Amino acid sequence: MNQRISIAGTVTVPGDKSISHRAVMFAGLADGASRIRGFLHAEDTLRSAAMMRALGASVDFVSPTDVKVVGQGMRNLSEPADVIDAGNSGTTIRIGAGLLAAQPFLTIVTGDPYLRRRPMGRVIKPLASMGATIVARAGGSLPPLCIRGGNLKGIRYEMPVASAQVKSALLLAGLYADSPVTVVEPMLSRDHTERMLTAMGARIVRDGRSVTVHPATTLSASDFSVPADISSAAFFLVLAACVPGSCVRLPCIGMNPFRTGVVDVLRRMGATIDEENARDEGGEPVSDLVVRGAALRATDIVPEEIPGLVDEVPALCIAAAFAEGRTEIRGAQELRVKESDRIRSMADALTALGVRCGEYPDGMWIEGPSRIAAGVRCDSRGDHRVAMSLAILSVASGIGIGISDTACIDTSFPTFHAQLAGLRP
Ligand code: S3P
Repeated sequence: MNQRISIAGTVTVPGDKSISHRAVMFAGLADGASRIRGFLHAEDTLRSAAMMRALGASVDFVSPTDVKVVGQGMRNLSEPADVIDAGNSGTTIRIGAGLLAAQPFLTIVTGDPYLRRRPMGRVIKPLASMGATIVARAGGSLPPLCIRGGNLKGIRYEMPVASAQVKSALLLAGLYADSPVTVVEPMLSRDHTERMLTAMGARIVRDGRSVTVHPATTLSASDFSVPADISSAAFFLVLAACVPGSCVRLPCIGMNPFRTGVVDVLRRMGATIDEENARDEGGEPVSDLVVRGAALRATDIVPEEIPGLVDEVPALCIAAAFAEGRTEIRGAQELRVKESDRIRSMADALTALGVRCGEYPDGMWIEGPSRIAAGVRCDSRGDHRVAMSLAILSVASGIGIGISDTACIDTSFPTFHAQLAGLRP
């Protein structure tokens, strides 16, 4: 093991990415002026803001994190004059597809080279069965998407993969359908869409693994308060957890019960994570988290846990590299179609750094504690969560790691490096 220096301090984590995307999109469909406080001002969420502007909503930044959105109502969007560029953002293009499938005009949505490699059949198929016409590359599976929407009918759809993006796209399209839309999830995923649309007046009913949305004519303008993103907090939770003697405070973290798997896993590995001032903010549970490091032990992350920590697996790989024993992660095949193939990206980087690890088709194993090799250069593969995971590994191990392409961090956490630098040894 390398020499590790404990860290202490408070980290300000930016607004939740999932909620920020939804807030700007849903506000753009409402009647009148909404306000979003705590908005994540990052490349991904700005793509959703730009999409809503292109559709005729006005989106004004009172400050980088305080947004005023004036919608013209659900049925008064206008045909965009140009192609919409979702950049790197899967959430913009997938949830956006649900919204656009309901509009009686043509929209073309594209993205950066990484997004143009990500599967879209999972939203195209059910939206087409509701009556939308969607044409896409590679036999209808890859962006750009060409969407001519309108005249949707209600469906009952059993989702083959657990995906909050797909569920949200269908719920949004369902608001415009001629009868209710029921989505059956294989495993429960984050429910921000259900919470937010309900608060805006939509009728959404949950029954076990099914969720039904009833058609609506209006959504009311709202004040949204966005908690800090637990998926961004995860990098600092892991960093503090794997260095004994560390203590880091993370205020105002969103604790949606479908997002807190990373906290459960780190506790199981031996870290202490206290939840203080538990409260409700803007319809979501929020707590101040205090994490204390320890000598970690390995754990098994099982398939049922994956939806609750899907974006946190790269960070948890770093905890596993410091933990005593063999950590197994299974049921995580969705990671292969994220911003990069995250199983491959992490396994390649960790192997190059001297960590004993290997891939499964649906996950990986990692043996620790590992000695991190010096002088190695790793490739983030343009994936923000891979880049941030390697950056915390470098700090936690005290070994400089060269990371190619850290600019991608701006897609979700533009202040990451500043927050990392602000922690004192
Ligand atoms: C998200 C859902 C997850 C997650 C993504 C954000 C969302 O994707 O990985 O970063 O905002 O709904 P899937 O829906 O593909 O699981």
